[in-house]
Amino acid sequence: MSDSGKPGDLGGIMRAGDRRRFLKGAGAAVGLASLPGGAAFAQSSDVPVDCRPAGIPEGAKTRIFKPDESLPLRVRKSAFELTTAEIDRLRRAYKALRDLSLSNPNDPRGWLQQSYLHCWHCGGGTDGKSGVQVHFGWHFEPWHRAYLYFHERILAKLINDDSFALPYWDWDSQARQQMPPPYCLPNVAYDLQKPSEGNPLVDARRGATPGLRMTDQVLSPDSLSKVMSSPRSDLYLGYRTPTDPTTPTSGMGAMEGGPHNMVHGWTGQPSMEDLNGIPDMGVLATAARDPIFFSHHNNIDRLWGVWLGLSPLHRNFTEPEWLSQRWDFCDENGVWTSIAIQDVLDAESSLKYRFDAPNQPPIWTFASRAEMAAAAAPATAATIASVPKLLGKPLEVAKSARSGGSLVLKADPLTRTITLTDPVIAALKAAPSHPTNNILLRIEGIAVRPTEGARFNVFVNTPDATAGTLASAPRFVGTVGVLAMTNDRTVHNHGLFDAVLDLTPELGDLEFKDRKLSITLTPFTAKGQPPTGQGISFERIVILSDGA
Ligand code: C2O
Repeated sequence: MSDSGKPGDLGGIMRAGDRRRFLKGAGAAVGLASLPGGAAFAQSSDVPVDCRPAGIPEGAKTRIFKPDESLPLRVRKSAFELTTAEIDRLRRAYKALRDLSLSNPNDPRGWLQQSYLHCWHCGGGTDGKSGVQVHFGWHFEPWHRAYLYFHERILAKLINDDSFALPYWDWDSQARQQMPPPYCLPNVAYDLQKPSEGNPLVDARRGATPGLRMTDQVLSPDSLSKVMSSPRSDLYLGYRTPTDPTTPTSGMGAMEGGPHNMVHGWTGQPSMEDLNGIPDMGVLATAARDPIFFSHHNNIDRLWGVWLGLSPLHRNFTEPEWLSQRWDFCDENGVWTSIAIQDVLDAESSLKYRFDAPNQPPIWTFASRAEMAAAAAPATAATIASVPKLLGKPLEVAKSARSGGSLVLKADPLTRTITLTDPVIAALKAAPSHPTNNILLRIEGIAVRPTEGARFNVFVNTPDATAGTLASAPRFVGTVGVLAMTNDRTVHNHGLFDAVLDLTPELGDLEFKDRKLSITLTPFTAKGQPPTGQGISFERIVILSDGA
């Protein structure tokens, strides 16, 4: 992607590298920072000015993680299947975690400090300082796995029970597309000042109410099936995170950009009508203050393992750069510990936990590429071989005119149509017969206001798609969601990133009438309405061949 200035219609968005030049005035920081202890934040949604976790060593020598052989194997269960005793244990653990924030605000193991560690790794506080970004790319799954491991161990230590295991919120089952009851009943927010009242698992800043169901726009069998059938590591886990943080391009995996972001946004604001991030769950900087965050991410952690087991094409990366990536976490004894991605891949032997499968069937199904290839209209070997060659050069569907501003997606759908040559049509149609060659759709240089989220569906050759068109419609390609990073309007930026979706399964029986191919992006709310907000801009849409 070429270098560029601010995308035209969205003044205020900065490139990743610009941020440090726009530090917020120190004066603004005083109000919050001078409040006593962490208690000031107890029921507050204020984005922290400084979310550097207390004592984070940042490069100083830390303990190197070693599997704790003395630990029992813990069993993580669905939050809907906990016994009364297990619910009670979970409440006691989170109560102790919250109380630690009050009794010792600088203990990095406390509730608020732990949320700061997450904030630190997703853009930082409003003072412009932050740790390395762990979202929007291939660090997303392993960082959150390690984060949950240490979180679970801290909770276990606080209640002195090494068998304590985090429950997961299996929103991929029909009956469980609602808040898990232990996390919302009784629905009385916990107040650090009045700890005898309230449910420590309830967060005051949560839009989702007990019993409220997600709509099909939020999560549907088709959207989840598409995610779980992602045939490549990068499509599922995310694209390489650039080592130079000022490099804008990185891409979310289908799980991060789809269900992960949808459930976050729904929990904060179930209608999804307003794109402004609604704390706590709807904003990355505050999300980990809600205990449901850990149950939500536990399901993402579980599904990572499920996805790996679905097909030999589903694998973890083997790049040394990925395997040796390390981060620091505070362990249950308050000791900062460095853990590498390779330490978390075999969770059962190194982190000593496993998942009990839920007793409900998932709403998604897995479509194997090999079966798809067998079912696809037979293509000649020569046509199949020509797929990568013909699309060796990305096929440009849309491009922002540098002079005329960016492509902008607000409330209305946006369609771009191109005319193809016959050989390209033949190549596209042959692609599904090839068991490993994928045709990908890449939306490049997406820019969103830091205070806003964005959600849109992508369809091919469906120019009449609207906000109400569901993933069950034919020629649905995928959902792209972005979470707001902060609700402070002055400092952060998302940087620019790409979204990559697998177009292959749609190509087999696509009719290219008049040799036309169109791509339609439809912003939507939970009720299938157009959202309000500034929306997003992006630089280019291309179709390319990958993975031959
Ligand atoms: Cu670190 Cu669900 O985000």
